[in-house]
Amino acid sequence: MSHFGSYEDRVKDFDWSIAEKELEYNDGDVINIGWYCTDRICQMGKGEKTALLWEGFGGTEKKFTFNDIRIASNTIGSFLRELGVKNEDRVCLFMDRIPELYLGFLGVLKIGAVAQPLFSAFGDESLFVRLDNAQTTAIITTRKHVSKVRKIVEKMPYLKHIIIVDYDGKKPLRDREVAFSLEEATPVEEFECFPTTAESPSVLHYTSGTTGQPKGVKHVHYSLISQYLTAKWVLDLHDDDIYWCTADPGWVTGTSYGIIGVWSLGVTQCVLDSGFSADAWYKFIDKHRVTVWYSAPTAIRSLMKAGAEIVKNNDLSSLRHLASVGEPLNAEAVVWSQEVLGKPFHDTYWQTETGSMMLVNFPGMKVKPGSMGRPFPGITAVVLDPESLEPIKEPGRPGLIGFKPGWPAMMRTYWNNEETYKSKFANGWYLPGDRSSIDTDGYFWFTGRDDDVINTGGHLVSPFEVESALLEHEAVAESAVVAKPDEVNMEVVKAFVTLKPGVEATPELELKIMNFIRKKLSSIAMPQEIEYMAQLPKTRSGKIMRRVLQAKEWGEEIGDTSTLEDDE
Ligand code: WT7
Repeated sequence: MSHFGSYEDRVKDFDWSIAEKELEYNDGDVINIGWYCTDRICQMGKGEKTALLWEGFGGTEKKFTFNDIRIASNTIGSFLRELGVKNEDRVCLFMDRIPELYLGFLGVLKIGAVAQPLFSAFGDESLFVRLDNAQTTAIITTRKHVSKVRKIVEKMPYLKHIIIVDYDGKKPLRDREVAFSLEEATPVEEFECFPTTAESPSVLHYTSGTTGQPKGVKHVHYSLISQYLTAKWVLDLHDDDIYWCTADPGWVTGTSYGIIGVWSLGVTQCVLDSGFSADAWYKFIDKHRVTVWYSAPTAIRSLMKAGAEIVKNNDLSSLRHLASVGEPLNAEAVVWSQEVLGKPFHDTYWQTETGSMMLVNFPGMKVKPGSMGRPFPGITAVVLDPESLEPIKEPGRPGLIGFKPGWPAMMRTYWNNEETYKSKFANGWYLPGDRSSIDTDGYFWFTGRDDDVINTGGHLVSPFEVESALLEHEAVAESAVVAKPDEVNMEVVKAFVTLKPGVEATPELELKIMNFIRKKLSSIAMPQEIEYMAQLPKTRSGKIMRRVLQAKEWGEEIGDTSTLEDDE
């Protein structure tokens, strides 16, 4: 039996206090996510249950019980405390998906500090803008990634501690660097968590917008309420499940559902710290007997491409429930999974800012392939007329998605950027910046984003950030960055550039520029193609018209260019 029952029954009389009761939380109590994910589960008698089954590159395995993760997060927390890290200080986690990332995250929360996880593939520039915005006090990293921190450390006087969790003593530590080994540290059995309350800051995730630098989405400890209940009802997590969330905790799915949701429910999860490979993924499911799987459309499309044959080499019969997030899940992918895996992927829609799932397909609910599903109980969702910002009544007519503010996991602000935060609200609605229609049964159908942000393989990339980085290359005079259609990643980054006088437009230069962006920003933000132009299309006032270039990539009519000549 799924936890959920019928949609109508759940929506009727829904109240978030359902989760508060289950978590034995009362208004005004201390609420600390680190404690809820570890100590509380142990107090419930599940200390010896496996919390984490970790598999690294090359098949190394590590296993942690709930008592192990309780002690490990205590140990990291007390190490940070001894260094002088205080509540509300930002502590960045900059690691591959090693156990220290997960345990460090909880340790940071336990001392009341703000966990700032950053994707380990970020280059020094991507890292710097995010640490600088957050004025981060400490960063926890590994030998593999510390060189990127060293490159920018002089520009960051506020960064007091660089903690290396796999220091091998071979090269001397530099200024502000300190070694910490989870295996060698004295285990801290008893630990006093910082008494955070509902509105105490917990997690800071950076997300990209169309303009300006990435925005730091501030979450609070009370987010647990929605993360716990959505994980329970939508992912349908039960006590005996083996859960696999393929997302990296550098992104919100990897924390809300790759740490908080699953562990606050006391459920076992496995983590695979290596890149995508269809064969390795199927083997992983087979080996660990994964029952609930939360993944993303690009991964599913890659599995489709790898073919049905290799599915047969593995026993995937343990899979009970499949869910997806991050980008449009095409109907074909749902039909494919039903055919090949015997179960449909259940789409979920939400974003860094919402902190937890908003539009969902529950287990047991009729899946309409290609639809994002219906609002989670307690969520009021509409589509708004873009002009009047009034809810659209007619089924099927697309408009801007709007959510009534006030669910527990909603962001509380953009760090140091209250103005942009405020701009996300209009007429009493929170606007996530996406478009959708609603059908007669109340199902939402995604129709597109409302801005120029590129969603490549489920990762948001700001064209502005890539354009700025391109301008730092010595050969580039001007740049415009757009999304280009792609079979697997849905969209990839494409750059148009004009070169400085005298620079020759060669294929070698294209590779050099691509690599320059990869190092500075990340492999995700790296343009997959660079097209040289003699000049870029501009408005009369000189603003580059991305939309003209984008339309060309998608084979769309540009329409009346006389209006495009004007600034908007
Ligand atoms: C943006 C949020 C929260 C999970 C990871 C992404 C797009 C997300 C769907 C979906 C179509 C989707 C939206 C959204 N998106 N889920 N099911 N169907 N589009 O978090 O990086 O903050 O990105 O991803 O455009 O606004 P994020």
